[in-house]
Amino acid sequence: DITERKKMEEAIRRAAEEWKETFDSISDAISISSRDCRLLRVNQAFADMFHTERGKIVDKHCYEIMHGINEPVSGCPHLETLKTGKPAAADFFEPHVGIHLELTTSPIFDERGEITGTVHIARDITERKRQEEQLMMADRLASIGELAAGTAHELNNPLTSVIGFSRLLMEKDVSDDIREDLGIICSEAQRATEVIKQLLQFARKRTPAEQLNQINSVVEHVLRLRAYEQRAHNIEVRTDLAPALPEIMIDYFQMQQVLLNIIINAEQSMVEANERGTLTIATRRRNSTVVISVTDDGLGISQEHLGQIFDPFFTTKKAGKGTGLGLSICRRIVTEHSGQIYARSRPGEGATFYVELPINGARP
Ligand SMILES: Nc1ncnc2c1ncn2[C@@H]1O[C@H](COP(=O)(O)OP(=O)(O)OP(=O)(O)O)[C@@H](O)[C@H]1O
Ligand SMILES: [Mg+2]
Repeated sequence: DITERKKMEEAIRRAAEEWKETFDSISDAISISSRDCRLLRVNQAFADMFHTERGKIVDKHCYEIMHGINEPVSGCPHLETLKTGKPAAADFFEPHVGIHLELTTSPIFDERGEITGTVHIARDITERKRQEEQLMMADRLASIGELAAGTAHELNNPLTSVIGFSRLLMEKDVSDDIREDLGIICSEAQRATEVIKQLLQFARKRTPAEQLNQINSVVEHVLRLRAYEQRAHNIEVRTDLAPALPEIMIDYFQMQQVLLNIIINAEQSMVEANERGTLTIATRRRNSTVVISVTDDGLGISQEHLGQIFDPFFTTKKAGKGTGLGLSICRRIVTEHSGQIYARSRPGEGATFYVELPINGARP
């Protein structure tokens, strides 16, 4: 009898072991939560997805670990399942781990048919979301391009007249306050043409005219262009340019535009934060790439915004101050150069933008 029982126990132990291994080899993050939202059991993928260890998770609230918050998330499928007794699903973006999750929950019943908790499956759909968004963006950009090309011309002509006539009037014998108002009309009209120019530049697809250039000279050139503004705004510039960098294939003017956009953003951020600042520009060789970094000690960028700043029309600036196109133009140009652009930042601690460009013939 005893040997029978031993055998049985052994079989049960093995079965449990097998289940545990199965549980752990599934790549979706699976957890079991109690009615009061406590994690009873999680698989290895769960611990990996939320960057913790299994020992530290058990008995914590699921919302703490999964959503990084202190109360149930609104639209929580677990609560939904507890209420209805039916499976539920929802999508969430989790800024604390930087992934997009698709959550599904199914009820667990006890012998009496009461719900004791849920099985909770979290799937990382970040890549799928990204592709969807890219497709949507491509569509939108194509239509913006057509629209921009179509209307820019029509808008430019009347704006040129507005600028021309306001200048003409300013030369006439008018009082100072009228002259001042005319000045505003003129500069606002000029700004409108600037926006149109940017839109057109953004919409126009052209292959860059790449030539061998020294990236340090682009940096120095751009800094000369900004020197006056920077002095006027108490911005100290430090450069740390690596000597003897190889020349790389770039479109000089486009790369100038990239650096200008990044540097102007940095200046605006520092002026807004402290009315002064330190801008640090460094160049380095890293493997088969040349990396340019632009660091400021301005406002910094929240985790949430970091994912959006390169999107066209994303801006946190007041209406009329920013079009939100600067960084999206940078990204397009850098991508056309087979390079990469990204930013690192924490709110209140400034930001660093990196542009990585491949050295000739080398893959990044
Ligand atoms: N150095 C920085 N520090 C803090 N926030 C930044 C920095 N650079 C960019 N950002 C954020 O990214 C957003 C998008 O920048 P982007 O250059 O694309 O547009 P913009 O500066 O708002 O407008 P535009 O460049 O078209 O005038 C900004 O509104 C700002 O919130
Ligand atoms: Mg900008």
